[in-house]
Amino acid sequence: MSALNVQKLRQDFPNLGLKVYGKPLVYLDNAATTFKPQCVIDAVSQYYAQGTSNVHRGVHFLTEQATKDFEGSRQSVQQFLNAKSAQEIIFTRGTTESINLVAQSFGRTFLKAGDEIVISHMEHHSNIVPWQILCQQAGCILKAAPMNEKGELIWDEFIRLLTPKTRLVSIVYVSNSLGTVNPVVQIIKEAHSRGIPVLVDGAQAVTYGPVDVQALDCDFFAFSGHKIFGPTGIGILYGKQKLLESMPPYQGGGDMISSVTFAKTTYNVLPYKFEAGTPAVAEVIGLGAALNYVQAIGLENMAAHKKELLLYGTKVLTSIPGVRMIGTAKEKSSVLSFVVEGIHPHDLGTIVDQEGVAIRTGHHCTQPTMDFFKVPATARASLAFYNTKEELDILGKAIYKAKEVFHA
Ligand SMILES: Cc1ncc(COP(=O)(O)O)c(C=O)c1O
Repeated sequence: MSALNVQKLRQDFPNLGLKVYGKPLVYLDNAATTFKPQCVIDAVSQYYAQGTSNVHRGVHFLTEQATKDFEGSRQSVQQFLNAKSAQEIIFTRGTTESINLVAQSFGRTFLKAGDEIVISHMEHHSNIVPWQILCQQAGCILKAAPMNEKGELIWDEFIRLLTPKTRLVSIVYVSNSLGTVNPVVQIIKEAHSRGIPVLVDGAQAVTYGPVDVQALDCDFFAFSGHKIFGPTGIGILYGKQKLLESMPPYQGGGDMISSVTFAKTTYNVLPYKFEAGTPAVAEVIGLGAALNYVQAIGLENMAAHKKELLLYGTKVLTSIPGVRMIGTAKEKSSVLSFVVEGIHPHDLGTIVDQEGVAIRTGHHCTQPTMDFFKVPATARASLAFYNTKEELDILGKAIYKAKEVFHA
C-alpha cells in the first residue's frame, strides 16, 4: 500500500475534477505535461494580481519583491537538484532550450570537425536535432548507441562508441516513449574515466525520483517545469560552474551584461550571463511553488505509488488480447506504451477519449524509437502520483470498447 493519501491529494488539482463528454476525466498523459496544483496556480496569479514587476531592475518595492521571489525559486531549484551553488542554475524555456544552449554555447566553442557526440537510439527529438544542427555547423559527428528489443541500452555497444574522438555524451535518463530508465550513474562514470563530459536529459527523470546532481556528477542536467507540476515555458539547465564559466553567452541582450559600449561589452556573472532579456518571472515563481509542493509530499512516496500503478497497469494492458507493449525494460518508469492489433493508435486514442480517457498517441517526438520497433506510433498512458488503479481499469474497459468498434 502506498503512503500517499491520493484521494486527498487529488483535490489539490482543479483539472482532475473536470468532466469530458459528461464523464469524469481520466488523465493519463502526464509525460506530455502534468496538471498544476492550486498552490502553483495561486503563486502565478498572485504575481500577476498583486506583484507584477520586472526583476533585477530598479529599486521600487514591487521589483524588489519580485526579484526576491524569483531568486528564491532559483534556490529552491538548487536545493531540489542538490547543486553546489545557485549560480549553476540557469533558467531557460524548457529542456529543449537547455539542450540547445549547451549545443550552441559549449558545442560551438569546444567541438571541432571530426569530434564525436554520443547519444542513444531512444532520445527525444530535442536531444537529437540540436546536435544535428551543431554537426552541420561544426562538422562533428553524431553517434547513437543502440538498444535491444526491450528498449534497453546495449551497454557494450555504448562503451564501444566512447573513443578518443568523443567530446560529449548526451543521454536521456528516463525515456518518454518507452519508460526505460538508463543507468546514468554508470554512463557518467565510464564517460568521465575517458575525460568526456555528460549532459543528462532529465525531462522525465525529475518525477521518477529524487535527483542529486552532485552524486550523479553529471556536467549538465536539463529539465522542464511543466513536467513536474509547474508552469509551461520554464525550464532549467544545471551546469557545473567551471564549465558554465568557460562557455560564451547563448543569447545577447539585457541583464546578461556587465557593461556595454560600442567598442566592447563585458558579460555578467553566472547565472545571468545565460539569461538575456526579461525572464519568465511568473513561471519561475510558479516552478518554485511546484518544487516545494513535490518535496512536501516526497518524491520517494510518489515513486512508490507510481511503481504500484505501473505493475497494475501492465497487468491490465497485457491481459487484453492483441495488446503489445512497446518498452519492457527491467528498469522502467510509469510509462505504458502499447499498440493494439488491428487498431491504429490514433483511432484507439479517439475512442478512449470518448470514454473520458486522455492518453497520448503518436511518435512522442521519438521517431527513431518508433522506427526501431517498426510501428508508426504507439498509444501511451503515462502516470502521475495522482492517478489510481480505478483509472487504469477505466482505460482497460475503454480499450475493450475500441476493440468492439473495430472488430479487433
Ligand atoms: C525525455 C524528454 N526530453 C526532452 C523533452 C522536451 O521537453 P520540453 O518540450 O519541455 O522542452 C521531453 C518532452 O516530452 C522529454 O520527454
